[in-house]
Amino acid sequence: MKRILFTIILISAALVSMAQVRVTTPNLELVLRAEKGSGLQVQHFGGRLSDTDLENLSAAGVPNHNAYPPYGFWCPSEASLAVTHADGNMSTVLKVEGVSQEEDDGAQITRIRLKDTVYPFYVTVCYRAYQDVDMIETWTEIENLEKKPVVLTRFDSGYLPIRRGDVWVSHLYGTWANEGRVVQERIEPGMMTIKNKDGIRNSHTDHAEVMFSLDGKPQENAGRVIGAALCYSGNYELRIDTRDTDWHQFYAGINPDNSAYTLAPKEIFVTPELALTYSDEGLSGASRNFHRWARNHKLAHGNELRKILLNSWEGVYFDINEPGMDQMMADIASMGGELFVMDDGWFGEKYPRLTDNCALGDWKVDRNKLPNGIGWLVEQADRHGISFGIWIEPEMTNSVSELYEKHPDWVIKAPERDALQGRGGTQLVLDLSNPAVQDYVFGIVDGIMTENPRIDYIKWDANMSLVNHGSQYLPKDRQSHLYIEYHRGFAAVCDRIRAKYPDVTIQACASGGGRANYGVLPWFDEFWVSDNTDALQRIHMQWGTSYFFPAIAMASHISAVPNHTVFRTTSLKYRIDVAMSGRLGMEIQPKNMTDEEKELCRKAIADYKTIRPVVQLGDIYRLVSPYDGHNMASMMYCSQDKSQAVFYWWKTETLYDDHLPRVKMAGLDPSGIYRIHELNRIDNEPLPYEGLAFTGKFLMENGLEIPLKHKVDYHKQNDWSSRVLHLVAE
Ligand code: DGJ
Repeated sequence: MKRILFTIILISAALVSMAQVRVTTPNLELVLRAEKGSGLQVQHFGGRLSDTDLENLSAAGVPNHNAYPPYGFWCPSEASLAVTHADGNMSTVLKVEGVSQEEDDGAQITRIRLKDTVYPFYVTVCYRAYQDVDMIETWTEIENLEKKPVVLTRFDSGYLPIRRGDVWVSHLYGTWANEGRVVQERIEPGMMTIKNKDGIRNSHTDHAEVMFSLDGKPQENAGRVIGAALCYSGNYELRIDTRDTDWHQFYAGINPDNSAYTLAPKEIFVTPELALTYSDEGLSGASRNFHRWARNHKLAHGNELRKILLNSWEGVYFDINEPGMDQMMADIASMGGELFVMDDGWFGEKYPRLTDNCALGDWKVDRNKLPNGIGWLVEQADRHGISFGIWIEPEMTNSVSELYEKHPDWVIKAPERDALQGRGGTQLVLDLSNPAVQDYVFGIVDGIMTENPRIDYIKWDANMSLVNHGSQYLPKDRQSHLYIEYHRGFAAVCDRIRAKYPDVTIQACASGGGRANYGVLPWFDEFWVSDNTDALQRIHMQWGTSYFFPAIAMASHISAVPNHTVFRTTSLKYRIDVAMSGRLGMEIQPKNMTDEEKELCRKAIADYKTIRPVVQLGDIYRLVSPYDGHNMASMMYCSQDKSQAVFYWWKTETLYDDHLPRVKMAGLDPSGIYRIHELNRIDNEPLPYEGLAFTGKFLMENGLEIPLKHKVDYHKQNDWSSRVLHLVAE
């Protein structure tokens, strides 16, 4: 990696007098006061400042808050860091020792080294400011140069004061099959905590990302918004403390619950990155910043178009066999798909995986189901002109498995107690803090890929929480390191996999959307949004998930009806129109589809190919929220050059004589002239504006009328209506 040192400023005379450090991206600025011998303070986080504004910033009123407040010397305040020093002193006081700024691979890196006033104990507060996207990542490096170990009981990644007023927070709560639900609430005095303690998966109960709307009730396309995403795969804690000051105080980091960390002399504890953005174009504006940053920097192959796939899970579940897999491959190929993924159920020799109660860890093909092995399947995929992918769950085992029989010491369990077991009554989590287990997990992927180098895609699942606290590897006095060491082990394995297999596409699945976070995504190309594939509920879940994650990362599949989770029957057109707003795929048994249904899917796949770059690489504009009670939802993507857009409209409730709003579009070039073409058309007659052109200005000021129903033959009528319009500038 090219590293150009353009400035190293060890507090110079000029800087001492100014003491202001600017951390900037094209449209975003963080200003810090970093005077040698004083505390590090945040002065501004928001839009770029002029030199005049900067000069007079203090007079205008700045928070004067410690940028990384440690515990113990002004105890009533919340702290970012809490340390018990080697001699038992629980207080820390940090003062600026030096500042450096350098350029690293298109980003400006600022490092501010702080030292305790008494102890040889250091914290370096770091910022990475991207020069191509409006995102600043912050993290800290906590270094113990005391003679003996110190104990860290809190270790946030970052802190930000947010001026009080009518500030609202948007966050995503949920559970299995209901991930990414939007919650929006005004921030009131008191402490608000959003946290996760699952141990393995961290985006089911809530998300490690939030948005703050600074100008009252959140709006999609107006108002100032600060967005924050903690890039960590494990337990996290986000706190918003509102006390007797004019500032909300936002803290984010690893959840310190049951995770006291003993930091040995000379050891450096590096906290995960907290990514911060700002937009004056509402929630959608902040989302666009997150999406660009994700595609350019945080997502594996973030700017490469994804294949359209069929996954076997909802089609056949564990009922895997050669003719069945071959038929599914032939079917997806005939509909224009590009990849087939064989899900759970293909493995287990001694304990064949017929259901979910055995064999995790025994990654040997079940020859009763697949006599010719994986190689044969890859060859058949090739014959059908598509790629082949495979499901694994490498962090787990079952107590009924050959692996567990050989290595009972590899599972996470509390000492002196039998382990609580999960899925199937037998599932257990492997102890990734143990290097031998790391080697083994790496070896699973390495083995499969070495034997079948043409495997194109891996679905990496994780279906259990860390329900037993106890590592059989970590020493007795380091048991509280388990949560952290597990995720260090996970990172080490992922690094090794990516070093050896940089090109394979990997999906992060964790009982559906349990791993939608930026701590995981650098190694993964996408995530499974939810095990719930019901189109209506997906509109809600994908809406929330899109706050922080781009469509290219959101796997969204057409499935069968009645839906297997909520048992709702929606029309195929509706399911297609929803799935086409993310990374399109199918999760269905094509054998059970009629020729007419297959034809609709074939056409949809062909159409998706034409809009794929706009959906997967474009800018999002959410227009009408499904949460706002308008009985419909609408959003669009615009290509970065605004030459194309895709507009989605979904009815979410059907009431006779309902009066739905006319949706104004957004993100277009006002002077551009856009020709309209409806995709996935099922109506007997085209829309009145089919093939006609309108200016971007007209479409953004007026929108187009969308009929409440489809004009189809009587027997085809149903209560689901939706539209996808492709806009192409002339
Ligand atoms: C949970 C995942 O979310 C599903 O998509 C599927 O892969 C199953 N596991 C397989 O056991």
